[in-house]
Amino acid sequence: LKSVKIGICGLGTVGSGTVNVLSRNASEINSRAGCNIIIEQIGARRDNPNCDTSQISITRDIFDVVVNPDIDIVVELIGGTTVAKELVLKAIANGKHVVTANKALIAEHGNEIFKAAKEKGVTVAFEAGIAGGIPIIKSIKEGLAANKIEWLAGIINGTGNFILTEMRDKGRAFEDVLKEAQELGYAEADPTFDVEGIDAAHKLVILASIAFGIPLQFDKVFTEGITKITEEDVAYAQELGYRIKHLGIARRVGNSAELRVHPTMIPKERLLANVDGVMNAVLVQGDAVGPTLYYGAGAGDEPTASAVIADVVDLARTLTADPEHRVPHLGFQPDLLNDLEILPI
Ligand code: HSE
Repeated sequence: LKSVKIGICGLGTVGSGTVNVLSRNASEINSRAGCNIIIEQIGARRDNPNCDTSQISITRDIFDVVVNPDIDIVVELIGGTTVAKELVLKAIANGKHVVTANKALIAEHGNEIFKAAKEKGVTVAFEAGIAGGIPIIKSIKEGLAANKIEWLAGIINGTGNFILTEMRDKGRAFEDVLKEAQELGYAEADPTFDVEGIDAAHKLVILASIAFGIPLQFDKVFTEGITKITEEDVAYAQELGYRIKHLGIARRVGNSAELRVHPTMIPKERLLANVDGVMNAVLVQGDAVGPTLYYGAGAGDEPTASAVIADVVDLARTLTADPEHRVPHLGFQPDLLNDLEILPI
């Protein structure tokens, strides 16, 4: 069997989850990939007691990973948009394929990153950045390939949904639940990204770009978080037969599009109203298929690792296929089919 060697940068919640799942499910993963996926090196400032890395070469300088000539795929799990951007651009310049869980990086610098990747003939895959373990990018890009996507709407921040659910069901205070979400590894390093809607806006702009074939336009998203929602609001909504959910919504309007994230009142019998806790769900309306709904864990170590590894498997399969059977990797960059103006809201 051929081998594909990966280098993992970052050993936090998602990094340790990725190491654990790769080791536990090696036989399933390798058989689906048609090759052996080997962690060649990990770049991390410190060890993580939640995973066993005793058999893996570790460097404290993450930039060692992108220049390691044995590595085919760099897995970027450090987060943020400064060092991560430099790391990913260097990896691409060195001819590495990249798998990342970094939605902020893709949403804010994706246009530049995809351009560099295209010039170098490498792929940047980012399924893990959007809606945790749900294979939503692959579903839209491949499963719904026949459709013109009319709109999509989803609960795409696990931390925010966990907070709203605990406030409603247990009457807990906002700050108290946020603290728990941080302890559980759901929240961003800076949790204001979760509660002010920025993380959802990052994810929405990527979803819209893939669904509508438009460039990433993060600065055009109307963004409101959940910080103004009080325990009374949650209780009143409940009394009226509604649930408050924080949604990301992208909709075509003629030759334009609308992108917005904000709290909404959803009648309690609707499916989205019943997506609770750290779970995410995305409704996608295609002109041929009609409505489709995708549901799963939106954050956490192993759900996110599931999506990271799926991208690695996808790439590894392409890299090791016999040339005559090789299906070119679709890549996940937008196809830039449309030039929809984003409407101000
Ligand atoms: N902080 C994010 C969330 C992590 O809570 O949804 C997953 O992207």
